[in-house]
Amino acid sequence: MQLSSRLEGRVAVVTGSTRGIGLIIAKSLAAAGANVVFCSRSSTAVEAVYPQLTDFPDSQVMGVECNVADFDQVEMLAEKTLERFGKIDIWFNNAAVNRYFGPALDVPAAHWKEVIDTNLNGTYHGTMVALKHMLPRNQGKIINLLGAGATDSPADSYLSAYATSKAAARRFTLVVAEDYRQTALSILGLNPGLFATHLTTKIEPLNDEAVRRMKILDFGLNWLTTSPEAIRKTAVRIASDATNGKTGKIYRCWPDLLSNFQRYRAKENGSNRLDKE
Ligand SMILES: NC(=O)c1ccc[n+]([C@@H]2O[C@H](COP(=O)([O-])OP(=O)(O)OC[C@H]3O[C@@H](n4cnc5c(N)ncnc54)[C@H](OP(=O)(O)O)[C@@H]3O)[C@@H](O)[C@H]2O)c1
Repeated sequence: MQLSSRLEGRVAVVTGSTRGIGLIIAKSLAAAGANVVFCSRSSTAVEAVYPQLTDFPDSQVMGVECNVADFDQVEMLAEKTLERFGKIDIWFNNAAVNRYFGPALDVPAAHWKEVIDTNLNGTYHGTMVALKHMLPRNQGKIINLLGAGATDSPADSYLSAYATSKAAARRFTLVVAEDYRQTALSILGLNPGLFATHLTTKIEPLNDEAVRRMKILDFGLNWLTTSPEAIRKTAVRIASDATNGKTGKIYRCWPDLLSNFQRYRAKENGSNRLDKE
């Protein structure tokens, strides 16, 4: 099936979608024919990004200012979507924050709270409003973005707040999927893999050891990065009928090591051809 027609007539909400992975997901759903509602906490960012999402002839888009940490604002996001498009078929809980990298005691308590309120409670808020609309129709996909902390790999040190929020979001996704296993809803996780965004490149090290470890993160962002194409394809596939009958599953994007090496070589040779994908 053509990517451009896989989501025709569907209505999708993507939280935290004015940059990074959320913006890639919002664009990919619009390119696949879905009507898309995108949001962030900043009305300026929403206005600035709007033209990038209007290039897709089979899709209509709406931008909304919404802080996912506030349940009332998330309810409003759903209401505005229903007013404009009449239904919600797909809901991506993508919005997340993480500003610091360092030992737990050095992370400001206010930051811990912001991370949990956004990454975990934001996912809870989005899931609640989506469920309320989707359950009576017995139809819909809720997709929660996971990440470091949400795997069985060794503990992600220096990321206490972020890794805890994602580990809890993973468990939440799996539990809610079990709660509604008898329905036709798909409640899924998406772990997009490492990708250079504001979240991964604007992070502040809290001590010298954190500075050293961030060099390892930089290496990962160069060599182990996921491609935007992998994120696009995976997002559309799991939002589409391809996951009908599937719930409680975590999907992953894996790095394409050969492309990463070619991009590195292209940069070394002064060409940015591969950077433009
Ligand atoms: N990048 C990676 O390597 C990676 C790896 C694994 C998982 N992930 C996950 O992928 C998702 C996207 O991350 P990203 O790397 O693309 O981050 P990003 O570039 O920092 O983008 C985050 C987006 O969320 C918005 N946002 C932040 N807090 C919000 C809130 N309270 N309410 C509404 N919107 C909010 C931001 O806009 P405003 O600031 O204007 O609100 C922005 O549009 C996250 O769930 C992240 O955990 C990322």
